[in-house]
Amino acid sequence: MAILVTGGAGYIGSHTCIELLNRGYDVLAVDNFVNSKPEAVRRVGEICQKPLPFVELDIRNREGLQRLFCEHKIEAVIHFAGLKAVGESVSMPLEYYENNLIGTLTLCEVMRAAGCKKMVFSSSATVYGLHNPVPFTEEMPTSATNPYGYTKVMIEQILRDLCVADPEWSAVLLRYFNPIGAHESGKLGETPAGIPNNIFPYLSQVAVGKLPKLYVYGDDYDTPDGTGVRDYIHVCDLAEGHVAALDYCENHTGAQAINLGTGHGTSVLELRAAFEKAAGVPIPMEVTGRRPGDIATAYADTELARKLLGFTAKRNIEQMCTDGWNFIRQNPNGI
Ligand code: NAD
Ligand code: UD1
Repeated sequence: MAILVTGGAGYIGSHTCIELLNRGYDVLAVDNFVNSKPEAVRRVGEICQKPLPFVELDIRNREGLQRLFCEHKIEAVIHFAGLKAVGESVSMPLEYYENNLIGTLTLCEVMRAAGCKKMVFSSSATVYGLHNPVPFTEEMPTSATNPYGYTKVMIEQILRDLCVADPEWSAVLLRYFNPIGAHESGKLGETPAGIPNNIFPYLSQVAVGKLPKLYVYGDDYDTPDGTGVRDYIHVCDLAEGHVAALDYCENHTGAQAINLGTGHGTSVLELRAAFEKAAGVPIPMEVTGRRPGDIATAYADTELARKLLGFTAKRNIEQMCTDGWNFIRQNPNGI
């Protein structure tokens, strides 16, 4: 029985495939490479010393998906495939709704027809919106401020409705906080196309000399040093969280939202200092205005993940920076 991983060539998907392969799962990954490269699939195989079974496929391709479910006995799906850039989603809302919603609906329909009713879904801490107090707990009201965030809120609702309509379904809605870092081998990590929007790939590119300086988006927030505070989690911890969620999914029915974070907040200045220490290079910076839509502080309540999944993140900020630096140094131009 195989685990289907959609978006398996992407940043989090590829690290999760490594974790699954290393634990002996029968894995089948698909991706259309809209935001990743075949080289990532090859490197997963190199790291695990066995090839990652892979099919190039767009999950909106119903016939292609049906064929996959006919040819393989798939018991559960870990669903990463989606577009994820907040700014781009504002300028291309139709593409984001089409890809993320139609992709997920098509996948669920094909799963249902094949009798496969277990899904671990990549949601996001973005569903906590602008007004909840920290730490964020899973029962807080959800909302969004941009099309990307709305796709997460909507897909969570679709999966909850599906689990109500058919009690055989099981869906774990994993709300990731801020995944950063890279595989310890330095062979896999995040390689955004163009100038990065998120802080960690941006910092990495400044450290490696590809960008001149970090722009700090505001130092007048109500936080200890005035800069934004986030709950950064190592991508390999996140990958382990997915395996725990898969186990949970196999033994429970219904829809369950679960935070994946460390429960610990780190400011922009603290993250920069940790990266400078790990890399041994200075990271020039300039404080600029706030980024619209940003909140001061976000971190997870991690109690439910501990209770339901037995999951606690193990790696600290130093490890995240060391692994991220090791990756960018070896791959300054991406994978
Ligand atoms: P990523 O872009 O690296 O991976 C997503 C993968 O999905 C890519 O390889 C892309 O090519 C593929 N894909 C997109 N649309 C597809 C389609 N229609 N058919 C087949 N493949 C398709 O992103 P990631 O950081 O690995 O994120 C994975 C998931 O986690 C996404 O759903 C994202 O929204 C969610 N998430 C990410 C973060 C983060 O900070 N990285 C935070 C919260 C949630
Ligand atoms: C981003 C996404 C959010 C997603 C989350 C987790 C945006 C607007 N939001 O939020 O939807 O759920 O990632 O992946 O992209 N910062 C700088 N300079 C930079 C970049 C960021 O100072 O060049 C600051 C930000 O103001 C913030 C912190 O660094 O305080 C982290 O930013 P980022 O990495 O973009 O993550 P989020 O803001 O949490």
